[in-house]
Amino acid sequence: MESAYEIKGVRLWPGWLDRPAQEAMVADIRAVVAAAPLVAPVTPGGRQMSVRMTAAGRLGWVTDRKGYRYDPQHPQGTDWPPIPASVLAVWRALTGLARDPDCCLVNFYGEGARMGLHQDRDEGDFSFPVLSISLGDEALFRIGGVERSDPTQSVWLRSGDVLLMGGPARLAWHGIDRLRPGSSTLLPKGGRLNLTLRVVA
Ligand code: SIN
Ligand code: FE2
Repeated sequence: MESAYEIKGVRLWPGWLDRPAQEAMVADIRAVVAAAPLVAPVTPGGRQMSVRMTAAGRLGWVTDRKGYRYDPQHPQGTDWPPIPASVLAVWRALTGLARDPDCCLVNFYGEGARMGLHQDRDEGDFSFPVLSISLGDEALFRIGGVERSDPTQSVWLRSGDVLLMGGPARLAWHGIDRLRPGSSTLLPKGGRLNLTLRVVA
């Protein structure tokens, strides 16, 4: 599917999900979180992350003192719930791929949460894109190149926006600098959900 625009090779579909679709997806994610609660992860270096995380799918991305990895189970010792059909539908429509993702990582940003500049490189097959869905408060997304030192550009991601990091942008450095608290009414208590879909292979 043709995207509305590109920034540094990252393709964006602003407002791809309308309000009813966003509400339905939030309900689906609440069910995921009920089965697989959000956890406050720690980096291998022992730093507490400000984002809380869980996942759906065959594999979930986890981090703790043992390292970053994809794990078939939530830290509580249960399989991850399946990826909701509403989320898979976005992947299928926008990537056009026959292969479904293995992981839907769920990031929750409360007030003050951010995500430092990083690459998504624990997947093992970078020929598949990473698709990201934003729900709730607006967030300032920073995108660079494949080198840490490459110049960056920033774009505000709003509720219902979808972006795709694929091709030359698959290994681009990216992160979330800050949220605009109270900018969305989608989540009654505020904050932002970000879903990223990944083929882990
Ligand atoms: C991520 O890079 O894992 C999250 C990006 C975002 O929250 O938009
Ligand atoms: Fe990422």
